[in-house]
Amino acid sequence: MSILETKDLFFTYPDGDERKIILNEVSVSFEKGKFYTILGASGSGKTTFLSLIAALDQPERGEILFHEKSIREIGYEKYRRNHIGIVFQQYNLIPYMTGLENVMTAMSITDNSVQTNMKAQALEILESVGINATKANRKINHLSGGEQQRVAIARALSTNVDVLLADEPTGNLDAKTSKTIIDLFKTLAHEKNKCVIMVTHSEKIAQESDVILKLNSDTQTFEVSQNEMV
Ligand SMILES: Nc1ncnc2c1ncn2[C@@H]1O[C@H](COP(=O)(O)OP(=O)(O)O)[C@@H](O)[C@H]1O
Ligand SMILES: [Mg+2]
Repeated sequence: MSILETKDLFFTYPDGDERKIILNEVSVSFEKGKFYTILGASGSGKTTFLSLIAALDQPERGEILFHEKSIREIGYEKYRRNHIGIVFQQYNLIPYMTGLENVMTAMSITDNSVQTNMKAQALEILESVGINATKANRKINHLSGGEQQRVAIARALSTNVDVLLADEPTGNLDAKTSKTIIDLFKTLAHEKNKCVIMVTHSEKIAQESDVILKLNSDTQTFEVSQNEMV
């Protein structure tokens, strides 16, 4: 059963006197336990799609369903706070805080499961993405790019969500570090049963995922293909 589904999503941007269609009646569904990539050329509408399923923007027509319920009904803010985690290319962490403090700040604003020992739980999540206690207690700007992205992933997961959304999360990382982050996403999907949806413009990275949704710049819809060998 799908955890997240879009039905006939339609979205345009103003383009001079006209409107440019970015998403043209897009209907796709996502399941837990799978790693998805959204692939497409620059400007094809990948970020727009992610923004819609992250409820950071709203479609002109069509619906987004979380566990078969419209996110409009759930409430956009509540959906963002309790049901999804987002990771960006630029990490978007609070630089003067430690990794641990960044994660605990996120945990303190969700309505999900009450944490009896928030600090212990935050450290455990950080450890699970490869950030040990010593690094967790460092200020963000004393961590490498790859480590900062791991903290951002821990923050996204810390609210106990099933859906992890990421927009070009390896865009600022070297090839080797990038691979470790992709491996982490695979593990989260396959061993922790998360639904991971990642935007990338790299055909090579997309090959690492279970399902590729390729955004066609002519039709502005997805071509879906399953990868057998992951
Ligand atoms: N706020 C906006 N107003 C008008 N056009 C926009 C706006 N944001 C993005 N666009 C245009 O929409 C298209 C898709 O953008 P985007 O979703 O960011 O693409 P991608 O992430 O695939 O590079 C691009 O042509 C972009 O210029
Ligand atoms: Mg983009």
